[in-house]
Amino acid sequence: MQIETIPTTPYNDQNPGTSGLRKKVKVFQQPGYLENFVQSIFDSLGDISNKTLVLGGDGRYFNRVAIQIIIKMAAANGFGELIIGQGGLLSTPAASNIIRKYQAFGGLILSASHNPGGPDEDFGIKYNVSNGGPASETYTEAFYKRSQAITEYKTVTLQDIDLDSIGSQQIGTIKITIIDPVSDYAELMQSIFDFNLLKQSISSNYITLLFDAMSAITGPYAKRILVDILGASSESVINAEPLEDFGGHHPDPNLAHAHELAELMFSEKAPTFGAASDGDGDRNMITGSNIFVTPSDSLAILAANAHLIPAYSKGLSGVARSMPTSQAVDRVAAKYNIPCYETPTGWKFFGNLLDAGKITLCGEESFGTGSNHVREKDGLWAVLFWLNLIAVRRQSVVDIVHDHWQKFGRDIYCRHDYEAVETPIANSIVEDLRKQLPTLPGQIFGEYTVKYADEFCYEDSIDGSISKNQGIRIGFENGSRIVFRLSGTGTVGATLRIYIERFEPNAEKHNQDAQLALAFLIDLAEQLCEVKKRTGRTEPDVIT
Ligand code: G1P
Ligand code: ZN
Repeated sequence: MQIETIPTTPYNDQNPGTSGLRKKVKVFQQPGYLENFVQSIFDSLGDISNKTLVLGGDGRYFNRVAIQIIIKMAAANGFGELIIGQGGLLSTPAASNIIRKYQAFGGLILSASHNPGGPDEDFGIKYNVSNGGPASETYTEAFYKRSQAITEYKTVTLQDIDLDSIGSQQIGTIKITIIDPVSDYAELMQSIFDFNLLKQSISSNYITLLFDAMSAITGPYAKRILVDILGASSESVINAEPLEDFGGHHPDPNLAHAHELAELMFSEKAPTFGAASDGDGDRNMITGSNIFVTPSDSLAILAANAHLIPAYSKGLSGVARSMPTSQAVDRVAAKYNIPCYETPTGWKFFGNLLDAGKITLCGEESFGTGSNHVREKDGLWAVLFWLNLIAVRRQSVVDIVHDHWQKFGRDIYCRHDYEAVETPIANSIVEDLRKQLPTLPGQIFGEYTVKYADEFCYEDSIDGSISKNQGIRIGFENGSRIVFRLSGTGTVGATLRIYIERFEPNAEKHNQDAQLALAFLIDLAEQLCEVKKRTGRTEPDVIT
């Protein structure tokens, strides 16, 4: 195994976003592009000699090629062991678990999450640290800085590794271990939930279910756990084969993209429970017969019912939500008298709180929920949590949700996304909103009086780090909010996200359509930011 040092020059766009570096595959295929970024990561990690690195991805186009490149670079840079999912596959939560379980130094996860895959679509890479969670901004800033000054990368001359055969081999100074990507994760799930109860509820047909893996990574996980272990019928998991292009679809679990599931769940033939996950398995969409559960409500409901789940039976130390997530979980925390933290968008901000034991559950409005069992959000975990809840409470999804609203009130919520907006227009929208902030407090719009208008800035209570410019918030006296922010995960132009919520305590008004119930605030958001006017669009690209 001969180490080679290859001269290279920097690419100026290797600044990681909300969740690692995401670009078009064609960008990653430029000579030295992936290599530069991987070397920049390795150079920023301190002493990596003889350390263990976990490696895997969601199976999208370029996954195998990238894994072979990284294996050679890891060997050249002195890592002692690589743990790789068979076929180069690892869901994001499973990778997080493996880093923790085998006490690895860190891991590289290859994914662009819910973005489409294929030669003309997206690829991504992110580094997770030894707690299993995404690297903090201190790291990602260091990676970027290094990428701007890089002059060479290291690799070895080595034949491609067989990624499909489980087992270990020693090659020169590095041990390469290919593992079953599912078994450790399945074991972890069995340690959290009541699998016996779930088996009974499924075999007696009390629970019928449909899980849409969206031709992405959760197919093998769902088949093993839901079908092989819990005994659901094999038709319960659809689109179960991970495909490099996700069958040409967006592997994004929402009503628009998981339409096969959505149609069934709102039909006469709907099973008790329906769910979907995304490209890399960290997101979840929860539905029941004739109901879609918003992720913000789902987080609140999981928090309110956590004591019914074996792993959380002693209660929660606290909860956290990202800033644009609705305040539904805050009400649960207040009632249970536990702390509730508000963090910026992105899972990396939950890591310190989880490590310090300050929170047990956390989530984001973007279909992400999770707990202290790993340091990523976890799609199948949320699915199993809901199934366990249905089994214990012996209630339908609709009844569980309506009960929750009765008890806590409903935070009516929606998000409007304007995708691929020309970057200068998006920036001027944000600039102009920023300029309006000092003038807004006290202004009255219909029955809404602005209480505060600011730009969210987060100070991490554990390490004192400060993250500025995390979204523009306009809060009203009655608790309603409008939030504006630009996406940090897109790869074309800019995506403007507008998050809108209003609290409805009156149970008689709970069964309203969110778009209608929020119509006034939706119009007000347009009045404030003029996205339609400035882009000539008539409606958002995606409403969730
Ligand atoms: C989006 C979501 C965010 C999530 C991230 C990664 O980021 O909004 O909650 O953590 O994807 O899945 P954004 O594109 O908004 O920066
Ligand atoms: Zn994802």
